[in-house]
Amino acid sequence: MMFRLYQVWSHFDVSYRYVQMHPVPAKAVILLHTMCGIVGYIGSKNATPFLIEGLRALEYRGYDSAGIYVAGKGAIKRAGKVSNLAESIPAGFAGPSGIAHTRWATHGAPTEKNAHPHSDDTGTVWLVHNGIIENYAEIRTRLQDTGIIFQSETDTEVLAQLIGWYYAENIPLEEAVSEALKEVRGAYGIAVASTREPEKLIAARLGSPLMIGIGDEGYYIASDATPVLSHTRQVIYLSDGEMAVLTPEAYSIMTLMRDPLDKEVETLEWDLEAAQKKGYEHFMLKEIMEAPEVLENTLRGRLDIENNAIHLGGLREVEDALRNAKRIIITGCGSAYYAGLVGELLIEELAGIPVEVEIASELRYRRFTTTPEDTILIAVSQSGETADTLEAIREAKKHGMLTLGIVNAVGSTIARETDAGVYNHAGPEIGVASTKAFLSQMTVFALVALLLRELHTERSDAHSSAEIIRQLTRMPEYARRILENTDSIAAIAARHVDMRDALYIGRKFQYPIAYEGALKLKEISYVHAEAYGAGEMKHGPIALIDSSFPTVALMPRDSLYEKTRSNIEEIRARGGKIITITTGDTADAELLTEDVIIVPDTHEALMPILTTIPLQLFAYYVALARNLPIDMPRNLAKSVTVE
Ligand code: M6R
Repeated sequence: MMFRLYQVWSHFDVSYRYVQMHPVPAKAVILLHTMCGIVGYIGSKNATPFLIEGLRALEYRGYDSAGIYVAGKGAIKRAGKVSNLAESIPAGFAGPSGIAHTRWATHGAPTEKNAHPHSDDTGTVWLVHNGIIENYAEIRTRLQDTGIIFQSETDTEVLAQLIGWYYAENIPLEEAVSEALKEVRGAYGIAVASTREPEKLIAARLGSPLMIGIGDEGYYIASDATPVLSHTRQVIYLSDGEMAVLTPEAYSIMTLMRDPLDKEVETLEWDLEAAQKKGYEHFMLKEIMEAPEVLENTLRGRLDIENNAIHLGGLREVEDALRNAKRIIITGCGSAYYAGLVGELLIEELAGIPVEVEIASELRYRRFTTTPEDTILIAVSQSGETADTLEAIREAKKHGMLTLGIVNAVGSTIARETDAGVYNHAGPEIGVASTKAFLSQMTVFALVALLLRELHTERSDAHSSAEIIRQLTRMPEYARRILENTDSIAAIAARHVDMRDALYIGRKFQYPIAYEGALKLKEISYVHAEAYGAGEMKHGPIALIDSSFPTVALMPRDSLYEKTRSNIEEIRARGGKIITITTGDTADAELLTEDVIIVPDTHEALMPILTTIPLQLFAYYVALARNLPIDMPRNLAKSVTVE
């Protein structure tokens, strides 16, 4: 029996306890999985409405085809949107159990034939799958040699056929699933149904998230919490190497070897309203507008103004390690990585600890040269499921490092696999472009930096944190003031809607925000945008500047204002249009450039939180004017669970 230290995060504190860990089969190496969505239901209600609504709730994850299987009715699949599928469902397509899927194509084009669910060639076993079966080709050949005929080009069908092959008459479905899974290499989250045992669903996980919802009227399977929120708050997160057997009356959790497990039932804290649009045209706009309350939630209970102290319950147990830390490595992908760059500056400035930031897809393949005893890895992830970030954490753990997470999705894999951490409390983020989570990540980094400062400096220095703590308490109000000016930001966006390229520049604390601003514009408006440290302009990028290539200049009146101002003059002298995000005197700013957005003044270390908001709105309004699918931009998925 294996035991390991297993950490449970909570709102404000963290507790450790020993729980039984069940070994994952040695050959089941966790590699990659895809960004599809799975839902399943078994119980006393008609499964179909939940399955379709569940797929809609998972649309944000990214997909290109969808399908549903309902006991007693069979399967319907469609290329394209869930709405295509929903429209194809005939009246009476109802039953007490079923499974459904949104597929993001990996093996085989996004066609109806390749969409899930897939079945074995007798049409008995039905399967939906997230992930990649790496040894699918050899299994396929072996099964074809026995006369089995394949209908699709997918690796998933191979698994369905393999389960069917093991599903002899006297064998229960869970045994056939378990036998098949012993043979496959790769990663999966699966839900399986059978026409022979319609009162049973199986779910199993290795490397691709899956949870079981426990409701009054049945049991739910889902890739994440969004589909189940309106049905139940009681959930079990399956861990790698675990399987669930669900019937209308009961559930049991077991290892893939079918040894029973006693899993904790957890309560989902996100509320349903938070995952809905609340009258906004897009989730992205709603999520930008939530900034003030997100900042309040991220800060709640964590600032001790009287004592100039920071309380991060999730890090209490690791304070000794934080006190001894000589080096910090921060990792993440996309916006989470840019939040890490802000974190680097905050920690170095406030706590004086050397920090290195690396994108997770690089870090995971690099050699760790630091001493693990005094180096800490901080992984940042909104979803808590990003494959590269997860693998970077696993590498750091192998190297013996303490790993911490800054994670938004409660109970996600990264939250569970890191040794300790801090939750963002930003609530569900549905829009593919990260907005409110990014603000909360920077805010958490400010808290972590202040905590490290407290642990690394003499108490007498504490007063110097006071101004930053005071300014942190004002962040929600400052954000509110910026959001009162959405019309003027929309007007600026309208003036630049036809741009083909854009350049974002900033220095020091504004340098990562230039990157984040450019990423937002690229993602949702498909405008080519580049980011540079303003000081780099003369080293090349200024050659791009002409009247059709606007520059977004991040230049609050901080310690480097004058320097960035000189860069602006240089751009202006070459006929470049400039959009300025600044603080202070409007009149002076207007002299400087034609399009000006003024944000409230604060400590320069916290200014990234404020300058980000207009950039999010700018990108949003450009994409809106271009009539683009803002919440689900082309080629992108919310949760990037492929390498
Ligand atoms: O869920 P994560 O924070 O780990 O996701 C990381 C990136 O995939 C994510 O930030 C991505 O870059 C967003 N689309 C940015 O808007």
